[in-house]
Amino acid sequence: MDQFAVTFLPDNITVRVAAGTSIMEAANQAGLPLKSTCGGAGTCGRCAIKVQEGKVEVRGGHLPARLREEGYSLACQTMVMGDAIIAIPPESRLGRHQVLLQDKGRLQDSLTDLLGSYPLDPACSVASLVLPEPTLTENTSDASRLLATLRKEKGLEGQLDLVFLQELPDSLRQANWQVDVTLAAGSNRLIRITPLGETRAFGLAIDLGTTTVVVSLLDLRSGERVMRKGSYNRQAVYGDDVISRIIHATSNEGGLEELRQAALATINDLITAVLTSGGIDPAEVTAATIAGNTTMTHLLLGINPRYLRLQPYIPAAAELPVLKAAEVGLKINPLAPVQIFPAVASYVGGDIVSGALFTRIASSEELTLFIDIGTNGEMVLGNSDWLISCACSAGPAFEGSGITCGMRAMEGAIEGVSIDPDTLEVELEVIGGGRPSGICGSGLIDCLAKLRRAGIIDRTGNFQEVATPRLRTTDEGPEFVLAWATQSSTQRDIVLTAADIKNLIRSKGAVFAGIQSLLKTVSLEIDAIERIIIAGGFGNYLHIPNAVEIGLLPDLPPEKYIFAGNTSLKGAELALLSQPAWQETLELARRMTYLELSAGNLFMEEFVSALFLPHTRLELFPSVGNGSGDERRSG
Ligand code: FES
Repeated sequence: MDQFAVTFLPDNITVRVAAGTSIMEAANQAGLPLKSTCGGAGTCGRCAIKVQEGKVEVRGGHLPARLREEGYSLACQTMVMGDAIIAIPPESRLGRHQVLLQDKGRLQDSLTDLLGSYPLDPACSVASLVLPEPTLTENTSDASRLLATLRKEKGLEGQLDLVFLQELPDSLRQANWQVDVTLAAGSNRLIRITPLGETRAFGLAIDLGTTTVVVSLLDLRSGERVMRKGSYNRQAVYGDDVISRIIHATSNEGGLEELRQAALATINDLITAVLTSGGIDPAEVTAATIAGNTTMTHLLLGINPRYLRLQPYIPAAAELPVLKAAEVGLKINPLAPVQIFPAVASYVGGDIVSGALFTRIASSEELTLFIDIGTNGEMVLGNSDWLISCACSAGPAFEGSGITCGMRAMEGAIEGVSIDPDTLEVELEVIGGGRPSGICGSGLIDCLAKLRRAGIIDRTGNFQEVATPRLRTTDEGPEFVLAWATQSSTQRDIVLTAADIKNLIRSKGAVFAGIQSLLKTVSLEIDAIERIIIAGGFGNYLHIPNAVEIGLLPDLPPEKYIFAGNTSLKGAELALLSQPAWQETLELARRMTYLELSAGNLFMEEFVSALFLPHTRLELFPSVGNGSGDERRSG
């Protein structure tokens, strides 16, 4: 088949691809992955590119007329038919290196101390042994000699694997029978044998998110965190939510393996980067923990995810045995034990269990609501006596997805919006302080609250007739201009459309309806909640009074709110360092009740009531009020 050269600008990277390959696929091969919500179906409009020159075939897809007129087409619907030069606008790129790794410093002390009251008792340990040398008369095998010494000196029954045995004879003799053996906790499987006194032991905690993946390297002997690195999950080219990934995995031949390899490549590249900069040999990494949602875990392990999205939504496995790194495909010591966080249900996964572990919900007497406002909007309510969880399908709007100018919280994102009530002029806060290129979740929340407060939208989210050039009507309907093209880094107006507002109201409505459904199931009112923990990078930028004002979060005093950062990663770090914490994780997942919101009418009734700003029942939001700005909590 004919091969053609496709050059991507502004990076000036060229790849050769077969005729008929989509620009989306070519960009992926060039290491320049593009955004996608629909997995390449041509419906999300996220992958817009400009063909500068060359021969392509554009098959169509849904792209706003305005962008088509400006010469854009959809990468997933544009096929290479000859050499071509393609420009990728910044807003279509899936940035690689802007994953938020650090919290913004608003964390409580209790949430920065990793181990807290848990002992340092990591997923593997090192035992130093001096073996009696064999003689002509004392001639038991190397393996029996090692196991007998381990039993005698440490009281442990070691377990041997073939890979270990293959190395054993030389290792023992080269070390002059004085060795360190690294053993997996619990199973006492022997992972590594090294000369006495020279042994380092590292572990990896991995947060396998739908959008981002973060790897944290820890020194298992000291309990110190060495470094963290993160990047975008390479599965994103197959769609940016779990449903589109499941569809890709189950409706394309080889789709599941493609997704498995994409996740593994993301993780293994991060592992290589971390180990190279730390000067660490992969063999020295002798344990790992992985926390991810149920779909991510299925895909990573190559387990058929089909039934996760079909009623009654049953995962293949909620709890998994401790696996070996080689089975999973991690590029570390092949015998390293890999602890994978258990799920509660198809849509409350190991990442939430990990967060619940880290935030100690299950050991606190305080009634706590834990929320991760991501695409699935998972939440847990409870205390040391009981725990109940649900997932409310909030959609990716607060992650900036499915919103015309939406983006994730990274440099260039509008994170705060002020609107002068008299002039209706707009002031923006932009992450990094430069020109804006889009708007992220916290900016969207601010924007909704301020548009309502300035009377530009009503309680249903509809635009009102107000005199400002910022409010205009296009072919796609009315929209409000937040930043003019001359002020933005994309040279295009940054807008919030009527459809975006409806989308956001649906998302916030789903989150609040999820909270109400949990409370009603256990016959409690909002006031009973003693603390609310917000997990995920989103919380770093969230302005609580505005989130309350739009009815996303309960109307409780700001001091009851706690940001906890990436709790999935921190829980994985904790379980790596402390076996009692890992055992507690398994218990926690088993005793967490799951409320399936699609069963019964409760959620739907709550959802419909929540499709107003802030809510149809204003008594649920006493500090927000109905009319003048005086009644509202200042924001
Ligand atoms: S429109 Fe191209 S990926 Fe969705």
